[in-house]
Amino acid sequence: MLAEQVLGFFSTDLAIDLGTANTLVFVRDQGIVLNEPSIIAIRRADRAVIGVGREAKAMLGRTPESILAIRPLKDGVIADFDITQKMLRYFISAARRVSTGRRRGWGLERPRVVIGIPSGITQVEKRAVRDAALQARAREVYLIEEPTAAAIGAGLPIHEPGGHLVVDIGGGTTEVAVISMSGTVYCNSVRIAGDEMDEAIIQHIRKHYRLLVGERRAEEIKIALGSAHPQPGEQRTIEVKGRDLVDGVPKTIVITDEEVREALREPVMTIVETVRTCLERTPPELAADIVETGVVLTGGGALLRGLDRLLQHLPGAPQEGRDSGLRGASLEPGSRTRRDTETPPSSFEALSRYTRSPLSKSYSGIAGSFHLVTKYW
Ligand SMILES: Nc1ncnc2c1ncn2[C@@H]1O[C@H](COP(=O)(O)OP(=O)(O)OP(=O)(O)O)[C@@H](O)[C@H]1O
Ligand SMILES: [Mg+2]
Repeated sequence: MLAEQVLGFFSTDLAIDLGTANTLVFVRDQGIVLNEPSIIAIRRADRAVIGVGREAKAMLGRTPESILAIRPLKDGVIADFDITQKMLRYFISAARRVSTGRRRGWGLERPRVVIGIPSGITQVEKRAVRDAALQARAREVYLIEEPTAAAIGAGLPIHEPGGHLVVDIGGGTTEVAVISMSGTVYCNSVRIAGDEMDEAIIQHIRKHYRLLVGERRAEEIKIALGSAHPQPGEQRTIEVKGRDLVDGVPKTIVITDEEVREALREPVMTIVETVRTCLERTPPELAADIVETGVVLTGGGALLRGLDRLLQHLPGAPQEGRDSGLRGASLEPGSRTRRDTETPPSSFEALSRYTRSPLSKSYSGIAGSFHLVTKYW
């Protein structure tokens, strides 16, 4: 009810998922109009903006002394206020250009904005998000906890009594939340997610091959070859170019998927442990609901191959074989949870197809929640 009331305000305005790794902007009735990396390049001398989003990402690790390519959010919260505000301002006006086709800024029609925030952030951190959006010319700003947004986006009837488990693995944070009656019953957040996985790959290559690789390359390796659980099929390999730590010359090595899996073991196990602890601490009634309704996995980090299977084998997690196992929204036709008009995903596989779409958060992030709320109205 609360979520509906709050979200009901936004008849035409924007929803922003301001993530550590990616920012998405959703415009009501239009869908996602912008999906860019949360990166900005500025000139050191006068702090003028040189590039934002994809353009700035391409500059990461390649800028001359005079230019800085920065990720202004860290661990899901604002690390550099001024720069975040600049980036947000750029994204808001870029969204405007895409959605209206007009070149000029918002002018008098300053948008109302809803922004997702990690659950459990401090009042000061919340204020920073709100102020950054206001200074980026938002007229009004509303905050919504990201796991709640993800649950709405996945089509869960979160305002009813009944537990839903949401696991959001982003770039900076992994959030695990049990939601019931529009509120968070239990939640745990760890600052281990996609970025830590990249770092683990960098460290592995450094230790075993004395080779230095950059963040971007590490992420590419993770996406191309990373897994949390052995995958069927042949062994896969990838060539990695970097700089030799000892003699400083460029060098190429070949690593296997098995090695990458090993490198990722630590961050992956931390994520799995966080989910396990949450299941253990969930009151029994809600835990029973979760077994029945399944788990919503969301965020880019959740796309790591085999992570869904690994989570399925947790004690207390919804098991495979019993119905369809660890499922997305578990919205079987006719079940009490089926509420919306569109055919909901009937299994985890179905949901993960949504999650795997190029706009990976379109159904499961904050933008997804708008998508759904639009339908309710
Ligand atoms: N196919 C994939 N396999 C593994 N990881 C992936 C894949 N695709 C994207 N990622 C990772 O997902 C992360 C970004 O996810 P997402 O966009 O949900 O984060 P975010 O919302 O910006 O961050 P946060 O929620 O922590 O603020 C990055 O670390 C990226 O490398
Ligand atoms: Mg996120």
